[in-house]
Amino acid sequence: MRFKILYDNEAKDLKAAWGFSCLIEDKNILFDTGGDAKILEHNMKRLNIDPKKIDTLVISHEHWDHIGGIPYILGKNPGLRVYILESFSDALKSKIRENAKLIEVSEPEEIEEGIITTGELGPGIKEQSLIVEDTVITGCAHPGIVEIIKKAKELVDEISLVFGGFHLKEKSEDEILGIIAELKKLGVKNAIPCHCSGDLAIGLFKREFEGYQEIYAGKVLENEF
Ligand SMILES: [Fe+2]
Ligand SMILES: [Fe+2]
Repeated sequence: MRFKILYDNEAKDLKAAWGFSCLIEDKNILFDTGGDAKILEHNMKRLNIDPKKIDTLVISHEHWDHIGGIPYILGKNPGLRVYILESFSDALKSKIRENAKLIEVSEPEEIEEGIITTGELGPGIKEQSLIVEDTVITGCAHPGIVEIIKKAKELVDEISLVFGGFHLKEKSEDEILGIIAELKKLGVKNAIPCHCSGDLAIGLFKREFEGYQEIYAGKVLENEF
């Protein structure tokens, strides 16, 4: 499976901006849309990705830096399915419903073969992550990256790669090293934080995971395990 990063705080030959979006290339599934529809449009055009080809959009959580690009995706493919959380605002739900088939998620659910949403997680900010075979993609990981992987492992046997926003900006070095140890104990072979993860976390994951690769808008990642 190939994962193409369309939107991130870092970029090469594309626009960088605060937010996250990733295309599951072989499946035409888009996970999150970044914070700005114009920037998403610019990056997708540069990468030659036609929004008409997106069949499924999954939104991790209702923060501006993940939902801002939705207007560029809506109304392009008449068959578009959009997976959001049941707890999202009525305003966003009705905007999506006008242009696409809206699916409200609370429990884990298979989107298509081998692709499963974790369902709504977290005691605070509700969020879903996406399991693609043995890879997990996170938006901001507000429920906690370890909690997300634990949940994913209830749903599939093995998780070898996880990437996305890990939301570790307020964590100390010791706390981050503890999280890395827990992820390794859960069988994760490579974990790549980007977007809102914080520079300290990004540096520590880079040091602790041999297969670490830098993530930026324009990057193509493959699960090599
Ligand atoms: Fe975020
Ligand atoms: Fe967030």
